[in-house]
Amino acid sequence: MDSIELIARGKINLYLEIIGHRADGYHELVMILQTIDLADRLILETGDGISVSCSHAEVPTDETNLAYRAARLMQSEFNRSDGVKITIDKQIPVAAGLAGGSCNAAAVLVGINQLWSLGLILPELQVLGGKIGSDVPFCLSGGTAIATGRGEKLDPIPDLESLWVVLGKYDGMGVSTPWAYQTYRQQFRGKYDSSGDMGSLLQAITSQNGATIGKLLYNDLEKVVLPEYGPVERLREAFANAGVVGMMSGSGPTVFALCESEVQAKLVQERTREAVNDPDLHFWVTKFASTGIELLTTEDKRR
Ligand code: C5P
Repeated sequence: MDSIELIARGKINLYLEIIGHRADGYHELVMILQTIDLADRLILETGDGISVSCSHAEVPTDETNLAYRAARLMQSEFNRSDGVKITIDKQIPVAAGLAGGSCNAAAVLVGINQLWSLGLILPELQVLGGKIGSDVPFCLSGGTAIATGRGEKLDPIPDLESLWVVLGKYDGMGVSTPWAYQTYRQQFRGKYDSSGDMGSLLQAITSQNGATIGKLLYNDLEKVVLPEYGPVERLREAFANAGVVGMMSGSGPTVFALCESEVQAKLVQERTREAVNDPDLHFWVTKFASTGIELLTTEDKRR
Protein backbone atom coordinates (compact mmCIF):
# COMPACT_ATOMS: atom_id res chain seq x y z
CA MET A 1 0.00 0.00 0.00
CA ASP A 2 1.50 3.39 -0.92
CA SER A 3 -1.40 5.80 -0.35
CA ILE A 4 -4.07 6.15 2.29
CA GLU A 5 -7.00 8.50 2.95
CA LEU A 6 -8.38 9.40 6.37
CA ILE A 7 -11.11 11.45 8.01
CA ALA A 8 -9.93 13.36 11.12
CA ARG A 9 -12.75 14.73 13.26
CA GLY A 10 -12.58 17.72 15.60
CA LYS A 11 -13.81 17.90 19.20
CA ILE A 12 -15.59 20.20 21.57
CA ASN A 13 -15.22 20.45 25.34
CA LEU A 14 -18.53 19.87 27.08
CA TYR A 15 -16.65 20.51 30.33
CA LEU A 16 -13.21 21.95 31.12
CA GLU A 17 -12.16 22.48 34.71
CA ILE A 18 -8.65 23.49 35.75
CA ILE A 19 -7.77 21.65 38.96
CA GLY A 20 -4.25 22.97 39.48
CA HIS A 21 -0.91 23.69 37.88
CA ARG A 22 1.82 21.14 37.44
CA ALA A 23 5.57 21.27 37.80
CA ASP A 24 5.99 20.48 34.08
CA GLY A 25 4.24 23.75 33.13
CA TYR A 26 0.98 22.05 32.19
CA HIS A 27 -2.29 22.13 34.11
CA GLU A 28 -4.15 19.33 35.78
CA LEU A 29 -7.55 19.15 34.10
CA VAL A 30 -10.91 17.41 34.30
CA MET A 31 -12.71 17.54 30.98
CA ILE A 32 -15.52 15.91 29.09
CA LEU A 33 -14.60 15.73 25.43
CA GLN A 34 -16.92 15.07 22.52
CA THR A 35 -16.06 14.25 18.90
CA ILE A 36 -17.99 16.22 16.28
CA ASP A 37 -18.60 15.44 12.63
CA LEU A 38 -16.74 18.53 11.39
CA ALA A 39 -13.62 16.93 9.92
CA ASP A 40 -10.47 17.34 7.84
CA ARG A 41 -9.50 14.87 5.13
CA LEU A 42 -5.90 13.71 4.88
CA ILE A 43 -4.07 11.81 2.17
CA LEU A 44 -0.80 10.09 3.09
CA GLU A 45 1.51 8.87 0.35
CA THR A 46 4.93 7.34 0.49
CA GLY A 47 7.52 9.87 -0.65
CA ASP A 48 10.98 11.28 -0.06
CA GLY A 49 11.34 12.90 3.35
CA ILE A 50 8.36 14.37 5.21
CA SER A 51 6.26 17.01 3.46
CA VAL A 52 3.00 18.70 4.42
CA SER A 53 0.66 20.70 2.20
CA CYS A 54 -2.63 22.17 3.36
CA SER A 55 -5.62 23.78 1.65
CA HIS A 56 -5.66 26.52 4.33
CA ALA A 57 -2.99 29.22 3.89
CA GLU A 58 -2.61 29.93 7.65
CA VAL A 59 -1.59 26.38 8.51
CA PRO A 60 2.21 25.99 8.78
CA THR A 61 3.69 23.23 6.65
CA ASP A 62 7.02 22.96 8.50
CA GLU A 63 7.97 20.97 11.61
CA THR A 64 5.68 23.16 13.78
CA ASN A 65 2.70 21.41 12.15
CA LEU A 66 1.53 18.60 14.46
CA ALA A 67 0.96 16.28 11.48
CA TYR A 68 4.61 16.78 10.50
CA ARG A 69 5.68 16.08 14.09
CA ALA A 70 3.63 12.89 14.16
CA ALA A 71 5.41 11.62 11.03
CA ARG A 72 8.82 12.56 12.48
CA LEU A 73 7.96 10.76 15.74
CA MET A 74 7.03 7.58 13.84
CA GLN A 75 10.33 7.71 11.93
CA SER A 76 12.37 8.02 15.12
CA GLU A 77 10.34 5.54 17.23
CA PHE A 78 10.55 2.83 14.56
CA ASN A 79 13.92 3.74 13.18
CA ARG A 80 12.59 4.20 9.65
CA SER A 81 13.91 6.51 6.97
CA ASP A 82 10.78 6.19 4.77
CA GLY A 83 9.27 9.52 3.83
CA VAL A 84 5.62 10.51 3.78
CA LYS A 85 3.74 13.15 1.79
CA ILE A 86 0.83 14.54 3.82
CA THR A 87 -1.96 16.46 2.08
CA ILE A 88 -4.54 18.11 4.34
CA ASP A 89 -7.96 19.28 3.18
CA LYS A 90 -8.76 21.65 6.06
CA GLN A 91 -12.40 22.04 7.06
CA ILE A 92 -11.94 22.48 10.83
CA PRO A 93 -11.28 26.15 11.71
CA VAL A 94 -7.65 26.86 12.67
CA ALA A 95 -6.55 27.92 16.22
CA ALA A 96 -10.18 27.55 17.22
CA GLY A 97 -10.21 25.25 20.27
CA LEU A 98 -11.52 22.33 18.17
CA ALA A 99 -8.33 20.19 18.13
CA GLY A 100 -7.85 20.66 14.38
CA GLY A 101 -4.05 20.25 14.57
CA SER A 102 -4.24 17.41 17.11
CA CYS A 103 -6.67 15.35 15.02
CA ASN A 104 -4.43 15.77 11.97
CA ALA A 105 -1.54 14.36 14.04
CA ALA A 106 -3.78 11.49 15.19
CA ALA A 107 -4.67 10.70 11.55
CA VAL A 108 -0.98 10.63 10.59
CA LEU A 109 -0.24 8.13 13.38
CA VAL A 110 -3.09 5.87 12.20
CA GLY A 111 -2.13 6.31 8.53
CA ILE A 112 1.56 5.56 9.00
CA ASN A 113 0.68 2.54 11.16
CA GLN A 114 -1.12 1.21 8.05
CA LEU A 115 1.38 2.37 5.42
CA TRP A 116 4.29 0.75 7.21
CA SER A 117 2.26 -2.27 8.43
CA LEU A 118 3.40 -1.66 12.01
CA GLY A 119 0.45 -3.45 13.61
CA LEU A 120 0.14 -0.98 16.52
CA ILE A 121 -3.07 -1.11 18.55
CA LEU A 122 -5.02 1.92 19.82
CA PRO A 123 -3.44 2.15 23.32
CA GLU A 124 0.03 2.06 21.72
CA LEU A 125 -0.91 4.80 19.27
CA GLN A 126 -2.31 6.82 22.19
CA VAL A 127 0.98 6.66 24.10
CA LEU A 128 2.72 8.01 20.98
CA GLY A 129 -0.03 10.63 20.55
CA GLY A 130 0.51 11.89 24.10
CA LYS A 131 4.08 12.82 23.11
CA ILE A 132 2.75 15.14 20.41
CA GLY A 133 -0.04 16.93 22.29
CA SER A 134 -2.48 16.50 25.17
CA ASP A 135 -5.55 16.18 22.90
CA VAL A 136 -4.05 13.65 20.46
CA PRO A 137 -4.91 10.50 22.49
CA PHE A 138 -8.58 11.53 22.59
CA CYS A 139 -8.58 12.39 18.88
CA LEU A 140 -7.40 8.84 18.18
CA SER A 141 -10.31 7.17 19.99
CA GLY A 142 -13.05 9.79 19.80
CA GLY A 143 -16.64 9.54 21.00
CA THR A 144 -17.48 10.89 24.45
CA ALA A 145 -14.83 10.63 27.19
CA ILE A 146 -13.69 12.01 30.52
CA ALA A 147 -10.12 13.29 30.19
CA THR A 148 -7.87 13.94 33.17
CA GLY A 149 -4.17 14.62 33.82
CA ARG A 150 -2.94 16.88 31.01
CA GLY A 151 -5.97 15.67 29.08
CA GLU A 152 -4.30 12.48 27.92
CA LYS A 153 -5.80 10.07 30.49
CA LEU A 154 -9.11 8.89 29.10
CA ASP A 155 -12.18 7.18 30.49
CA PRO A 156 -14.77 6.57 27.80
CA ILE A 157 -18.40 7.16 28.75
CA PRO A 158 -21.50 6.09 26.79
CA ASP A 159 -21.57 7.85 23.45
CA LEU A 160 -23.99 10.67 22.89
CA GLU A 161 -24.80 10.48 19.24
CA SER A 162 -28.06 12.29 18.97
CA LEU A 163 -27.18 15.96 19.56
CA TRP A 164 -26.57 18.67 16.99
CA VAL A 165 -24.00 21.43 17.39
CA VAL A 166 -23.91 25.00 16.11
CA LEU A 167 -20.39 26.44 16.04
CA GLY A 168 -19.58 30.13 15.58
CA LYS A 169 -16.14 31.59 14.96
CA TYR A 170 -14.82 34.93 13.71
CA ASP A 171 -12.59 34.69 10.66
CA GLY A 172 -8.98 35.54 11.42
CA MET A 173 -9.45 35.37 15.21
CA GLY A 174 -7.36 32.74 16.98
CA VAL A 175 -6.45 32.21 20.64
CA SER A 176 -3.06 30.83 21.65
CA THR A 177 -3.61 27.88 23.99
CA PRO A 178 -0.35 28.49 25.96
CA TRP A 179 -1.41 32.14 26.41
CA ALA A 180 -4.83 31.12 27.77
CA TYR A 181 -3.41 28.67 30.32
CA GLN A 182 -0.54 30.96 31.38
CA THR A 183 -2.93 33.88 31.86
CA TYR A 184 -5.21 31.66 33.93
CA ARG A 185 -2.26 30.61 36.09
CA GLN A 186 -1.12 34.21 36.64
CA GLN A 187 -4.60 35.47 37.35
CA PHE A 188 -5.73 32.83 39.81
CA ARG A 189 -2.33 32.06 41.36
CA GLY A 190 -3.23 28.62 42.62
CA LYS A 191 -6.74 29.48 43.87
CA TYR A 192 -8.46 27.27 41.36
CA ASP A 193 -12.09 27.50 42.46
CA SER A 194 -14.44 26.22 39.85
CA SER A 195 -18.19 26.61 39.65
CA GLY A 196 -18.78 23.77 37.19
CA ASP A 197 -21.08 20.89 38.11
CA MET A 198 -19.41 17.91 36.52
CA GLY A 199 -21.43 15.37 38.56
CA SER A 200 -24.77 16.64 37.27
CA LEU A 201 -23.41 16.89 33.73
CA LEU A 202 -22.26 13.27 33.84
CA GLN A 203 -25.67 12.24 35.12
CA ALA A 204 -27.34 14.12 32.25
CA ILE A 205 -24.98 12.44 29.76
CA THR A 206 -25.67 8.99 31.19
CA SER A 207 -29.41 9.58 30.93
CA GLN A 208 -28.99 11.12 27.42
CA ASN A 209 -30.78 14.28 28.54
CA GLY A 210 -29.79 16.74 25.80
CA ALA A 211 -31.58 19.78 27.22
CA THR A 212 -29.88 19.43 30.62
CA ILE A 213 -26.48 18.77 29.05
CA GLY A 214 -26.80 22.05 27.14
CA LYS A 215 -27.38 23.96 30.38
CA LEU A 216 -24.47 22.39 32.31
CA LEU A 217 -21.68 23.10 29.78
CA TYR A 218 -18.67 24.61 31.55
CA ASN A 219 -15.23 25.99 30.67
CA ASP A 220 -12.83 27.65 33.16
CA LEU A 221 -10.79 29.21 30.31
CA GLU A 222 -13.72 31.52 29.53
CA LYS A 223 -12.63 33.49 32.62
CA VAL A 224 -9.48 34.68 30.83
CA VAL A 225 -10.51 34.58 27.16
CA LEU A 226 -13.87 36.42 27.32
CA PRO A 227 -12.50 39.63 28.93
CA GLU A 228 -9.81 39.86 26.20
CA TYR A 229 -12.02 38.93 23.24
CA GLY A 230 -15.14 41.10 23.37
CA PRO A 231 -16.71 39.65 20.18
CA VAL A 232 -16.61 36.15 21.71
CA GLU A 233 -18.59 37.38 24.71
CA ARG A 234 -21.12 39.05 22.36
CA LEU A 235 -21.46 35.82 20.38
CA ARG A 236 -22.20 33.96 23.60
CA GLU A 237 -24.89 36.50 24.46
CA ALA A 238 -26.41 36.20 20.98
CA PHE A 239 -26.68 32.41 21.45
CA ALA A 240 -28.40 33.02 24.82
CA ASN A 241 -30.89 35.37 23.13
CA ALA A 242 -31.57 32.62 20.58
CA GLY A 243 -32.57 30.39 23.52
CA VAL A 244 -29.48 28.18 23.93
CA VAL A 245 -26.33 28.24 26.08
CA GLY A 246 -23.27 29.28 24.07
CA MET A 247 -20.02 27.89 25.49
CA MET A 248 -16.43 28.33 24.37
CA SER A 249 -14.65 25.14 23.25
CA GLY A 250 -11.13 24.54 24.67
CA SER A 251 -9.10 27.73 24.69
CA GLY A 252 -11.49 29.24 22.13
CA PRO A 253 -12.39 31.38 20.38
CA THR A 254 -15.07 29.06 18.89
CA VAL A 255 -18.39 29.21 20.73
CA PHE A 256 -20.82 26.31 20.38
CA ALA A 257 -24.39 25.50 21.41
CA LEU A 258 -26.20 22.17 21.53
CA CYS A 259 -29.52 21.50 19.83
CA GLU A 260 -31.92 18.56 19.73
CA SER A 261 -32.40 18.58 15.95
CA GLU A 262 -30.88 19.86 12.71
CA VAL A 263 -33.90 22.12 12.22
CA GLN A 264 -33.40 23.74 15.63
CA ALA A 265 -29.64 24.06 15.00
CA LYS A 266 -30.23 25.91 11.72
CA LEU A 267 -32.78 28.19 13.37
CA VAL A 268 -30.35 29.03 16.20
CA GLN A 269 -27.64 29.65 13.60
CA GLU A 270 -29.82 32.09 11.64
CA ARG A 271 -31.06 33.97 14.72
CA THR A 272 -27.52 34.32 16.06
CA ARG A 273 -26.15 35.35 12.65
CA GLU A 274 -28.79 38.09 12.34
CA ALA A 275 -28.27 39.32 15.91
CA VAL A 276 -24.47 39.62 15.61
CA ASN A 277 -24.58 40.81 11.99
CA ASP A 278 -20.82 40.59 11.33
CA PRO A 279 -19.56 39.32 7.95
CA ASP A 280 -16.48 37.86 9.68
CA LEU A 281 -18.59 35.56 11.83
CA HIS A 282 -18.85 32.05 10.35
CA PHE A 283 -21.10 29.21 11.42
CA TRP A 284 -21.07 25.45 11.08
CA VAL A 285 -23.88 23.05 11.88
CA THR A 286 -22.65 19.57 12.72
CA LYS A 287 -23.46 16.72 15.08
CA PHE A 288 -21.87 14.50 17.69
CA ALA A 289 -19.85 11.58 16.34
CA SER A 290 -18.53 8.41 17.94
CA THR A 291 -15.28 7.90 15.99
CA GLY A 292 -12.27 10.21 15.94
CA ILE A 293 -10.21 8.90 13.02
CA GLU A 294 -11.60 6.93 10.13
CA LEU A 295 -9.63 5.10 7.48
CA LEU A 296 -11.46 5.40 4.17
CA THR A 297 -11.93 2.28 2.15
CA THR A 298 -12.06 2.40 -1.66
CA GLU A 299 -15.85 2.21 -1.34
CA ASP A 300 -15.97 5.32 0.93
CA LYS A 301 -13.72 7.29 -1.44
CA ARG A 302 -16.19 6.89 -4.32
CA ARG A 303 -18.92 8.67 -2.28
O1 C5P B 1 -0.41 19.51 24.93
P1 C5P B 1 -0.47 20.64 23.96
O2 C5P B 1 0.86 20.86 23.28
O3 C5P B 1 -1.60 20.55 23.00
O4 C5P B 1 -0.74 21.95 24.81
C1 C5P B 1 -0.58 23.23 24.29
C2 C5P B 1 -0.29 24.18 25.41
O5 C5P B 1 -1.45 24.32 26.24
C3 C5P B 1 0.80 23.75 26.35
O6 C5P B 1 2.06 24.17 25.87
C4 C5P B 1 0.43 24.45 27.64
O7 C5P B 1 0.85 25.80 27.59
C5 C5P B 1 -1.09 24.44 27.60
N1 C5P B 1 -1.68 23.32 28.35
C6 C5P B 1 -1.65 23.32 29.73
N2 C5P B 1 -2.19 22.27 30.43
C7 C5P B 1 -2.76 21.25 29.77
C8 C5P B 1 -2.81 21.21 28.37
C9 C5P B 1 -2.26 22.26 27.67
O8 C5P B 1 -1.14 24.26 30.34
N3 C5P B 1 -3.29 20.26 30.48
